[in-house]
Amino acid sequence: MGYKVKGIVDWVGTVDWELRTFHGEELSTHRGSSYNAYLIRDEKTVLIDTSWTPFAEEFVENLKKEIDLKKIDYIICLHSEIDHSGALPLLMKEIPDTPIYCTANGARFIKHQFHQDWNFVTVKTGDKLPIGSQEIMFIEAPMLHWPDTMFCYLTGEKILFSSDAFGQHYATHPAFNDLVDECELYQEAIKYYANIVSPFGAMVERKINEILDLNLPIEMICPAHGVIWRDNPTQIVETYLKWAKNYAENQITIVYGTMWDATKIMAEAIAQGIAEEDPSITLKIYNIGVSDKNDVITEIFKSKAVLVGSSTFYNGMLSEVAGLLEEVKNLKLGRGKKAAAFGAYGWSGESVKLVSEALKAAGYELVNDGLRELWKPDEKVLENCINFGKNFLKSI
Ligand code: FEO
Repeated sequence: MGYKVKGIVDWVGTVDWELRTFHGEELSTHRGSSYNAYLIRDEKTVLIDTSWTPFAEEFVENLKKEIDLKKIDYIICLHSEIDHSGALPLLMKEIPDTPIYCTANGARFIKHQFHQDWNFVTVKTGDKLPIGSQEIMFIEAPMLHWPDTMFCYLTGEKILFSSDAFGQHYATHPAFNDLVDECELYQEAIKYYANIVSPFGAMVERKINEILDLNLPIEMICPAHGVIWRDNPTQIVETYLKWAKNYAENQITIVYGTMWDATKIMAEAIAQGIAEEDPSITLKIYNIGVSDKNDVITEIFKSKAVLVGSSTFYNGMLSEVAGLLEEVKNLKLGRGKKAAAFGAYGWSGESVKLVSEALKAAGYELVNDGLRELWKPDEKVLENCINFGKNFLKSI
């Protein structure tokens, strides 16, 4: 059920407690999610966003308990992705003439998705919508994280509605940052950033600075997923600025795929070398074949350098390693960071070269040509791996 956010604003969204994958099966969501929608009741009544398609009926029914739908004067669609617009068709059946405020891209995308020509009112940065005692100002935010995305700011309550930015896939109710476990919250916030927002770091920085230059007092940030930032709301803005600038902790992540454990043994020996060289470094080791891809990506995002290993499988690398590296490239995680490849082989041994090429394509600076070892490591190979780890650390 809905609850008060602040003053004239209520939360009227949906909590998806059971969600375990998002974007189809692409992104793991261990703690569920929410599709936040907000109702502003001034002289005019405004609905910001709706819900994901499977929740359309529940969303509209719950909204009817909050308000006579015919009293909604304006709908604002900050972002047209169907986790926020999916209830529009059902809602618009009830109030077909209600204007939908969105960006020009938003109107295009909604039309493409629903094949409906609703009453779109397109807005740009700086446009204002008076609603009575307060005013809503629109701020375009393209590529945060879609070309259609925009934020809006409610003047009297001093609330920034930030669409997907500053969000988390984190089911909780009611959803305020001071009511949840801070470790869980930041784990989900950084996972969300690494897996969804990270390709757009430059735009994140530019947009945040543009908003800061507007000198708008911000007393609350209401994203489209997860908690509302009520306690020290701009902490997440400052954190995003850090994450946007080639963020790196004193961490190295080693990821590998292995067939008969030879590459796994190499990974552990390389880790031993790194740890012997610098016991203060945080080391994370994952077999990508049995690990959650998105959790691994989060650790890669946090790392100043990565080592990626794969057995050679026929003439290539293992598919789970290839899939990970494709995503690491798409998310542009290699910018400003260093990497190397390793792997065991029995016949022709192409994987190290191929992993190296994929790391380079993902933006990493390769610090060497990689370490390629034949069959199962013996004592001499283990020594090579330990030295490889030590030298890798010295070269980053
Ligand atoms: Fe939460 Fe990009 O939709």
